[in-house]
Amino acid sequence: MIDQGFDLSEKEFLLFKQLIYHETGINMSDKKKKLIVARLSKRLRVLDLKNFTEYYEYLKDSPYADNEIVNLINRVTTNKTDFFREKHHFDFLQNELFPQMIARSRSGGPKKLRIWSAGCSSGEEPYTLAMVTLESFKAERGWDVKILATDLDTEILGKAITGIYPTQLVGPVPREYLVKYFIRKGDQYEVNGTVKSLVAFRKLNLMDETFPMKNPFDIIFCRNVIIYFDAITKDTLLTKYHRHLKDNGHMFIGHSESLMHMKEKFRYLKHTIYQKV
Ligand SMILES: C[S@@+](CC[C@H](N)C(=O)[O-])C[C@H]1O[C@@H](n2cnc3c(N)ncnc32)[C@H](O)[C@@H]1O
Repeated sequence: MIDQGFDLSEKEFLLFKQLIYHETGINMSDKKKKLIVARLSKRLRVLDLKNFTEYYEYLKDSPYADNEIVNLINRVTTNKTDFFREKHHFDFLQNELFPQMIARSRSGGPKKLRIWSAGCSSGEEPYTLAMVTLESFKAERGWDVKILATDLDTEILGKAITGIYPTQLVGPVPREYLVKYFIRKGDQYEVNGTVKSLVAFRKLNLMDETFPMKNPFDIIFCRNVIIYFDAITKDTLLTKYHRHLKDNGHMFIGHSESLMHMKEKFRYLKHTIYQKV
């Protein structure tokens, strides 16, 4: 049966737009009215509410508001991702950055690598980072590697933690990686323990004023996330990333995003790859 959805007046749309912006930083353009109806109507039905005004009041005043905000957030986020998405980022790591780090470690540099996948969705991005790291460092000894993967959508994080993907989603994974780093389970593939052990998943809202991580990162991936934010939210977040990067650390963003307006903080290296100034 096709879900007809509830009516959403302009006034209600504005209230939800403001609430979503406040909770997630996501800027819902006027074109997103249909998306809100499509994604939230089911919640109204589950909660037995008559209209979006009642839902808004529930989110603001009910004793279950905190729980329902989580449901709202999980419904309005866009989680599209892929293994080896924007492959040139992983080629850069394997062919340029990781060999440089390995060379530096051989002349006394640190053997420590810290990566943050911010807005990691269902895990394809951090698991790709883990596989690429395992390959690049396979001949090395004594390296301490950790990948932090964060998202504010608790449902998608739950999926990411399982590390289980249907066959059609592992399409972009090279055959030798599939054999080496996955366990086949019927028509699904599960990321193996070696890959999982490198990645720690945590819930984190990028809108939080400060982040709890104490130590800086060599690499931050924040791809296809800031695209949903307005200019001020983007720049505030990028200033925080700048603070959480090591000197000369690398920042990777999505294909339609740019840091060209922040030249005093990020030096352009290659398409969507920047280095902390
Ligand atoms: C389109 S996915 C991108 C996934 C991956 N980085 C990639 O490029 O394939 C965007 C992710 O950002 C997350 N996100 C959106 N707003 C966020 C916020 N305020 N804090 C943390 N994560 C957020 C969403 O939940 C979603 O999983």
